[in-house]
Amino acid sequence: MARLAARVRSVSDSFTLKLNAQVQEMQKQGIDIANLTTGEPDFQVPEAAKEAVREAVRLNRSKYTPVPGLPALREAIARKTNVQQPSLVALSGEWKGANVIATNGGKQAIFNAMMAVLEPGDQVLYPAPFWLSYPEMTKLVGSEPFSIATRFENGFRMTADELSRALDAAPRAKLLILNSPCNPTGALYSHEELAAIGEVLEKNPRGRELWVLSDEIYDRVILGEKPFTSFLEACPRLRDRVITVNGMSKAAAMTGWRVGWTVASAEATAAMNTVQAQSTSGINALSQWASIAALALPESSFSEQVAKYRERFRMVLEILSKAGKLRVVVPEGAFYVFFGVQEYLAAGEDAGRFCERVLRDARVALVPGDPFGAPGFVRMSFATDDATLKSGCERLVGLLGS
Ligand SMILES: Cc1ncc(COP(=O)(O)O)c(C=O)c1O
Repeated sequence: MARLAARVRSVSDSFTLKLNAQVQEMQKQGIDIANLTTGEPDFQVPEAAKEAVREAVRLNRSKYTPVPGLPALREAIARKTNVQQPSLVALSGEWKGANVIATNGGKQAIFNAMMAVLEPGDQVLYPAPFWLSYPEMTKLVGSEPFSIATRFENGFRMTADELSRALDAAPRAKLLILNSPCNPTGALYSHEELAAIGEVLEKNPRGRELWVLSDEIYDRVILGEKPFTSFLEACPRLRDRVITVNGMSKAAAMTGWRVGWTVASAEATAAMNTVQAQSTSGINALSQWASIAALALPESSFSEQVAKYRERFRMVLEILSKAGKLRVVVPEGAFYVFFGVQEYLAAGEDAGRFCERVLRDARVALVPGDPFGAPGFVRMSFATDDATLKSGCERLVGLLGS
């Protein structure tokens, strides 16, 4: 009998995408659901990006592009990264277009990086709670996920000590993934916290052998006073072994356009380019033209979106505070609120069952924390319109009581 590869049998489908499809099916049947599951901005794509696509179509810009992307796009991405990493630029010079590969979303950027640096059996470290695709992608490339426990009391931000202990416990560690702001917790690492992590990576003999992937896809969604810090801005000496991942999906509401990227050393970029050349080639040409236009917009073009996220986040926290026994992680970035529901679980109920009950009885869709490495917790997205968000939060609180 023809058999499928073992690697696919060990990997789960994207849990959130599946859940979202289920909710949409219920909505199609006319059931009024407040869908607070999606990791997708509800804003519109910038007009300049749409216009660039119309123009590209008119000019028949429809041929294969170079595998790592159009030069103008790669240069725009390098410029953006240089602005976020002035200490690195001062220490060792600017990133150039040649250090950039445009990918099919942030997801392919991560996949390319894993394919380029990991061997079968290597361990991939990341703090828990984590974005749920990290372990599944790790398994797809034949490596082994290793999650590092962090503490609720520390806002689920991994400390330098926690990393040191993990290095002792994971003898085959080859790659560390950092994600700030974090999906699902909204944790935002300060300059000092990142520098302390960088110190472990420089001083610990095992830390010195690690590659680092810094997933900075939520860099624009900052909810409070603490600023975003790019990992290499805090740790510029690690330049040669850090792969920075970012993209247009969350920053410019361009999820469906599938544009992400890596910024990395010439050596890592060449390796990832080989992976991309033999898997997907250069990404969609029209999306690249759109991204060039969106990247040329001043930061102020996005301030309305950011202000809206901040407003929604305050509204959500205010309503959720009425259910006083929720253990809320106050997010500092990204567009999720992550909270512990332990005090509200019925006998024998886990967070998954809890979410089923909330969907059935309050018609609010949430994602359980288990696939993010946080049993007992639940993720709510506030990347949705105010009315749905307000009614969803009120219905949830109404079901839970105080
Ligand atoms: C932390 C994180 N990294 C990467 C991605 C992937 O982004 P993209 O949709 O551009 O592939 C996501 C999307 O949800 C994410 O939350």
